[in-house]
Amino acid sequence: MRYPWFRLAIFVASACFPAWWLYEAAMQLLGPDPGKILVDRLGLGGLVFLLIALAMTPLQRITGWAGWIVSRRQLGLWSFAYIALHLTAYLVFILGLDFAQLALELRKRPYIIVGALAFLGLLVLAVTSNRYSQRRLGARWKTLHKLTYAILALGLLHFLWIVRSDLAEWSIYAGVGLVLMLLRVPAVARRIKRARTRSPQVS
Ligand code: HEM
Repeated sequence: MRYPWFRLAIFVASACFPAWWLYEAAMQLLGPDPGKILVDRLGLGGLVFLLIALAMTPLQRITGWAGWIVSRRQLGLWSFAYIALHLTAYLVFILGLDFAQLALELRKRPYIIVGALAFLGLLVLAVTSNRYSQRRLGARWKTLHKLTYAILALGLLHFLWIVRSDLAEWSIYAGVGLVLMLLRVPAVARRIKRARTRSPQVS
C-alpha cells in the first residue's frame, strides 16, 4: 500500500469529527437542539469532504505528488459516510423515525428531495469505487464517476435552498467548487501540466 501514513492520518482525522460531535451531544454540550446541530454539521462535513476529494486531482497536477490521488477514493468514501450519517441523524432526530410524516416533510422541505438525489449519486459512486467495479466497467467507470460534478451541484443547491438569503457562507463553498471545476477544464489542466514540467518535480 502506497503512502500508508498519509492515508492513516486522513482516516483518523476524518473519524474524529463525528466521534467528537457524538460525544458533545451525549454530554449535552450542543445546546437546546443537539439533533439539528448534528444534522447540520454532518451535512456540511459531507460537502467539505466532497470538495476535498475533488481537490485531489488538481493538487496532484500542480505539485506532481501522487499521494493526493491515492487518497481520493478514501475522501470520497468519507463524504458518503458523513452524508449517510447526516441522513440517519435527520431520520432519527428531526423525523423521530415517524415515516408516516415523510410525505408531509417532503412538501414542507422540498430541498430534501434534492439532497436525496445527491445521496443516491454518492451511493452509486461508493458502491462502484472498488477495483472490481473499475475493471468490470472499464472506460465507462470514468464516465460514471463524472457523476461527482452533478452530486456537487445538487449538494450546493440543497444547501442554497436551506440558507436562502444568508448567502455569505454558501458562496464560499460554491466558490471553492467553481474553482475546482475550472481547474478541470482541459485547457486549464494542460496549462498546469506544462507549467509543472518546466519546474522541478516532487516525488
Ligand atoms: C437524503 C439525503 C438528505 C437529507 C434527508 C438531508 C436533510 C437535511 C436537513 C433536514 C438539513 C437541515 C436543514 C435546516 O437547517 O433546516 C440539511 C442541511 C444540510 N445538508 Fe442535507 N440532506 C441530505 C443530503 C445532503 C447531501 C447529499 C449534502 C451534500 C453533499 C447535504 C448537505 C447539507 C448541508 C451543507 C446542510 C446545511 C448545514 C448548515 O446549515 O450548516 N445534504 N440537510
